[in-house]
Amino acid sequence: MGLLDGKVAIITGAGGGIGRAHALLFAKEGAKVVVNDLGGDRAGGGKGSELADQVVAEIKKAGGDAVANYDSVSTREGADGMLWSALSKFGKVDILVNNAGVLRDRSFLNMTDADWNVVFDVHMKGTYFCAQTIARQLKVQGKGGRIINTTSVSGLMGNFGQANYSAAKAGIYGFTRTLAIELRKANVTVNALAPVAYTRMTEDLPMLQAVPNAKEMLAPEHISPVALFLASDLSADITGTIVGVQGPKVSLYKMIETSGTTPKGAAWTAEELRERWGEIGK
Ligand SMILES: NC(=O)c1ccc[n+]([C@@H]2O[C@H](COP(=O)([O-])OP(=O)(O)OC[C@H]3O[C@@H](n4cnc5c(N)ncnc54)[C@H](O)[C@@H]3O)[C@@H](O)[C@H]2O)c1
Repeated sequence: MGLLDGKVAIITGAGGGIGRAHALLFAKEGAKVVVNDLGGDRAGGGKGSELADQVVAEIKKAGGDAVANYDSVSTREGADGMLWSALSKFGKVDILVNNAGVLRDRSFLNMTDADWNVVFDVHMKGTYFCAQTIARQLKVQGKGGRIINTTSVSGLMGNFGQANYSAAKAGIYGFTRTLAIELRKANVTVNALAPVAYTRMTEDLPMLQAVPNAKEMLAPEHISPVALFLASDLSADITGTIVGVQGPKVSLYKMIETSGTTPKGAAWTAEELRERWGEIGK
């Protein structure tokens, strides 16, 4: 018995890196998988069918069931295309993993509108289009479902050179929290992963190069068991959570508000804010 027997999963950007690891594990656990990948380069240029085809071939070789889809997550038509792949081949959809991603790092003062737009189109708009298209289908099917988004430590904490990427990933954080509230009644859980993994997106980053044995220590295969858990019936009561996965370490990210305080007089003055800033932050 697999944890995802009888389920149909759409995984975006599943032609490589973390998405590929999700697809292989989900299929091993019994899911029928739509392996979506546009097949372009790391910066969002180009396209091709090879990446998705290769992962489908790997799944089939291992005895699983999958279909390739080459649509871009960045358009409504792309999201419709993915849903159509699931419905025409497998008759339904139960799980969506929004994983597709691109990177265009540049210090903020040098960032171009294209750097900003491409990153937002794939991460933020892509997550929106796919989530809405699939959530509407889940509502029609009436049996609940799972949406797993992909945010980033960069979006939650900030990172030099990633104003575009961190803004989009922070957007995915807020989006996940709101969807969890809105889709609760339809029994659709919505959670997000904040992974760190050695992939083509990160292999040349100094941060990862500083990790001894990064390729093994931070293999994408560490991330996928957490995605599997969030996709399975084992996590029916878990929604709106942001799960960090860095190699074997799993943690939760939580937004905190300090207890706060009120002014001594009728209203705050700038001087009193300066004076009591430490107290406000406690
Ligand atoms: N690797 C990390 O350390 C790390 C850290 C934080 C967040 N993430 C996020 O995890 C996700 C997976 O990243 P990865 O590290 O496996 O990178 P990756 O580059 O190996 O994989 C991303 C995949 O998305 C596909 N893709 C890009 N644009 C697409 C589009 N418009 N439509 C469909 N597919 C598209 C690419 O072809 C690629 O196969 C991304 O959302 C990324 O931002 C990764």
